[in-house]
Amino acid sequence: MNRYPFASALVTGASSGIGEVMARELAAAGVAVVVVARRADRLQAIADDFDDVEVLVADLLTKKGQRAVVARIADVQHPVDLVVNNAGFGSNGDFVQLDPDRLAHEVELNVAALTRLSHAALTAMIPRGRGWLLNVSSVASFQPAPRLAVYAATKAYVTSLTESLHEEARGTGVHVTALCPGLTKTEFQRVSNTEQYADSFPGFAWTSPDQVVRTGLADVIADRALSVPGVQYKAMSTAVNMTPRWLRRRVSGLVQRS
Ligand SMILES: NC(=O)c1ccc[n+]([C@@H]2O[C@H](COP(=O)([O-])OP(=O)(O)OC[C@H]3O[C@@H](n4cnc5c(N)ncnc54)[C@H](OP(=O)(O)O)[C@@H]3O)[C@@H](O)[C@H]2O)c1
Repeated sequence: MNRYPFASALVTGASSGIGEVMARELAAAGVAVVVVARRADRLQAIADDFDDVEVLVADLLTKKGQRAVVARIADVQHPVDLVVNNAGFGSNGDFVQLDPDRLAHEVELNVAALTRLSHAALTAMIPRGRGWLLNVSSVASFQPAPRLAVYAATKAYVTSLTESLHEEARGTGVHVTALCPGLTKTEFQRVSNTEQYADSFPGFAWTSPDQVVRTGLADVIADRALSVPGVQYKAMSTAVNMTPRWLRRRVSGLVQRS
């Protein structure tokens, strides 16, 4: 028996980490899931484990890939109740040392693709008077992050956009939530060159992908604008809100250099 209010979902970045756990959790609960990413074999492995998983191989850095996912979300014959914009990556290092093409890709995926898919989701959902949109942001969206400058800026965009859309969707029957995880062990650390965090941050600083997924799903169902998994990060985000902006960026810079 499906314990979720949605019958169908589409999850981007479902080939690893938070997105894979999200896709498997939903599929195990009986939700029909469309899994999106570039690595077809990883998506097929999820499809092989469940009855109702559809594989959509797409590179969201390309217009072709974005168009394919938009078309799937817009398909009225097979409506998608929940869209999870999860695909994303970061680039750790001094801004001037990082490859500008890589940074442009980061903005394209974390910002432009997410915006396009959010637009497709709400365009399909609002006339139906029903739907859930969960955009994966980060606690990095709450303050600048020297050495993760572009990443934090993209996530600040995601949180801001999503909070605005939450208000625009008020009263339409569509729920819109920004999921803001803290440190979570996934392939993110390898891809984003932050593997040293495993040694520099203590165990209590880490949340599990399971915890992130459970909290995000509960909060989008509850129609919360913001979802911050873990008591440690809830406390941190409250403290950040009470801290002057200059101090936020200084502390953030010190943490990044530690
Ligand atoms: N892990 C953390 O500490 C943490 C904290 C806060 C927020 N987040 C956010 O959580 C989200 C998921 O990250 P994760 O931690 O689960 O990392 P991950 O394990 O590296 O997963 C990233 C996913 O994004 C997909 N992806 C990357 N580039 C893509 C592209 N061009 N087109 C389509 N899909 C693409 C990857 O699939 P393919 O490579 O197969 O395409 C993969 O499935 C991201 O938005 C990240 O910023 C992570």
